[in-house]
Amino acid sequence: YMQDTSIPLAKYGGRHTVTMMPGDGIGPEMMGYVKDVFRVAGAPIDFEMAALNPANDSYEDLVNAISSVKRNGCGMKGNIETKMNRPDIKSRNVEMRNELDLFVNVLKCKSQAGIKTRHDNLDVVLIRQNTEGEYAMLEHESVPGVIESLKIITEESTERLCRFAFDYAKANGRKKVTLIHKANIMKLTDGLFLEVCNRVAQDYPEIEHNDMIIDNTCMQLVSNPWQFDVMILTNLYGTIVSNLICGLIGGPGILSGSNYGPRYAVFEPGTRNTGTKLAGTNTANPCAMLNASVDLLEHLHLDEHAQLIRSAINKTINEDKVQTVDLGGQATSMDVVQNIIAHIKKGL
Ligand code: NAI
Repeated sequence: YMQDTSIPLAKYGGRHTVTMMPGDGIGPEMMGYVKDVFRVAGAPIDFEMAALNPANDSYEDLVNAISSVKRNGCGMKGNIETKMNRPDIKSRNVEMRNELDLFVNVLKCKSQAGIKTRHDNLDVVLIRQNTEGEYAMLEHESVPGVIESLKIITEESTERLCRFAFDYAKANGRKKVTLIHKANIMKLTDGLFLEVCNRVAQDYPEIEHNDMIIDNTCMQLVSNPWQFDVMILTNLYGTIVSNLICGLIGGPGILSGSNYGPRYAVFEPGTRNTGTKLAGTNTANPCAMLNASVDLLEHLHLDEHAQLIRSAINKTINEDKVQTVDLGGQATSMDVVQNIIAHIKKGL
């Protein structure tokens, strides 16, 4: 429903300009690998760099980055650290998603044959509300020692999220959509979330639909994750469950996540953490960011380049088993990237 209007026009010579926001921690290194891989694969992308410094609270860099994405239509992003003890600085990640109206985050969680995990053959798609809910960032101290926080759920945004999820299920041959909530306690907010989803589901009779309480969902994900197909979640439940499923599939270094709105799209690693302790050690797994770069290519309909790189990543992890420490291997980040580049060269 949003794809056509969100696709930026090709620029001079058929090349696309895309905003690149390296973020903190391992972000800059990972983005360097994306550039190396794109260069070898001949992907017709020019990156416009937008640095976002966590120590800078002027917001000028954030405004510049947002304008750049608005100009180019899409971007790639590492994560920007949000200092915990500074209530005066709001999360720039959240502000960016709000300002660009990136209301949905899509995380495709598919097991990789070459990664040893407790559960095999998982294939779940998470559709997360990305701009409201518990992330409204509206907190205040009403009297000393009493903090209040607002959770915002709107009918309009919930409806477009649910329609996105059911349309996604229909377009991708998925059979079932499960809405995750806590409407037994959050009677009004999650109650509305559940009610809207049940209403939207009636327009998609061919797709099975059920709902599940978040607590039980976490237990079910560990004991019987194969029962899930497409899941719809509020913002906070979504980030928690995203990390849980990434953990089941092989950790933070594998999966990518895509953020979409009516006009813009931003691609990033699925778990969105900064990996700060790994920065500069040449040990972080580059595959999550590289998979995000493939999502970007698919979004721009550069399907041949996307397939070439995706297949090189998958062969490296699953067939050659050139894996970083997080997956039980001994390869460095650079070893993995070099192996991927060798496959790309063979495939050209
Ligand atoms: P973290 O960055 O410490 O990562 C968690 C674990 O995963 C660590 O053991 C790390 O070494 C490992 N890891 C991360 N990326 C990896 C990779 N590519 N390869 C191998 N191992 C990898 O995560 P934490 O403590 O949750 O968050 C750090 C910062 O990220 C926080 O300051 C927070 O602000 C931000 N963050 C933001 C989120 C958002 O959605 N805006 C979500 C999560 C974190």
